[in-house]
Amino acid sequence: MSYKVTIQPSGRSFQAEAGTTILEAADEAGIKLPHACQNGACGACEGRVLSGTVDYGEYQESLLTDFDKEEGLALFCAAKPLSDLVIEAWEIEEETIHEATTVQARVARMEKLCHDVMGLWLEVADAGKFSFLPGQYVDFLLEDGQRRSFSMASAPGADLLEFHVRHVPGGFFTDRVFNSMKVGDALTLNGPLGTFFLRDTNRPVVFVAGGTGFAPVKSIMDKVMAGELKRPMTLFWGARQVRDLYLPQLPAGWDGAQAQFSFVPVISEPGPGDDWSGATGYVHQAVLAQVPNLAECDVYVCGAPVMVEAARRDFLARGLPREHFHADAYTFQSASA
Ligand SMILES: Cc1cc2nc3c(=O)[nH]c(=O)nc-3n(C[C@H](O)[C@H](O)[C@H](O)COP(=O)(O)OP(=O)(O)OC[C@H]3O[C@@H](n4cnc5c(N)ncnc54)[C@H](O)[C@@H]3O)c2cc1C
Ligand code: FES
Repeated sequence: MSYKVTIQPSGRSFQAEAGTTILEAADEAGIKLPHACQNGACGACEGRVLSGTVDYGEYQESLLTDFDKEEGLALFCAAKPLSDLVIEAWEIEEETIHEATTVQARVARMEKLCHDVMGLWLEVADAGKFSFLPGQYVDFLLEDGQRRSFSMASAPGADLLEFHVRHVPGGFFTDRVFNSMKVGDALTLNGPLGTFFLRDTNRPVVFVAGGTGFAPVKSIMDKVMAGELKRPMTLFWGARQVRDLYLPQLPAGWDGAQAQFSFVPVISEPGPGDDWSGATGYVHQAVLAQVPNLAECDVYVCGAPVMVEAARRDFLARGLPREHFHADAYTFQSASA
């Protein structure tokens, strides 16, 4: 059995087999809807059900309250149609998204960027086959069918693909990166994935990164800095202590080179040795304190799920339209693999 799903405002429609999520069915029909984690943990795929009924599926309850459901909201990576539907969603222009493909790569360079972040540079075999938009991520395909997601930190066209890998002690993949991986090792990647890329609008941009959430912002900024910066952009980069802010000289350099770019580092728990006079507290709260026109901005948030969720809740409450909030939540794959 299948149901017809019609998208507003575009009026396009597609068929969804019973038991398939709205996101999967749209993708099968060649229609790209915003998404990131694809497991109900980040809110990137949220849209509105204007008519019809859905099974809301499995998702993090704090992302979709009973009130949200009464308002017609659903997470399209989890919701499955139970009838024909009319939904409200913002489609992504097909030509901007590259099809995901599986490619082989070799470790070309490794460098510790701080006490728990490894810079990893990969040489992709047949690099011409692999294209991506700055800000997207790939899955590393591991033994036993496990996958681990990491965002590209380099811009498309760079000789090597750059990644910033935070060590999760005891982690299946990141233990290997920190303890045994070496130059020349082979890796298999599947991507590009996700819809965390810069939308072409005239609105000011606010980037909010937590820890290695800086990686996709760097990918975007490497591309932006190669051209002309046409609108104000501010990066708020949050870390626990000063030693966790790896590569701070990069955004500080963008700040110095471009009048329209500002960098605000935010430290949540300055250590005893940290000589810190900058912003303190949670990074999304620094945004609320320092960006009076937040509702008029495009906001890109990337990092730990708890940070993304808090930002989403508080920024929407401040009047930011849902469709101007873009996020990649660094959810863990091991639980669902
Ligand atoms: C779209 C996306 C993009 C991502 N991009 C990046 C990136 O650019 N850089 C980066 O460093 N990370 C990124 N992550 C997070 C990264 O995928 C995980 O940290 C990684 O999967 C951990 O793999 P592992 O095999 O080492 O740990 P696992 O073996 O999967 O986990 C071991 C234990 O640690 C817990 N755990 C797993 N990951 C984390 C974590 N991140 N924080 C705290 N506890 C954890 C697990 O629940 C488990 O108990 C991204 C995640 C997503 C979804
Ligand atoms: S909650 Fe649906 S893509 Fe993350």
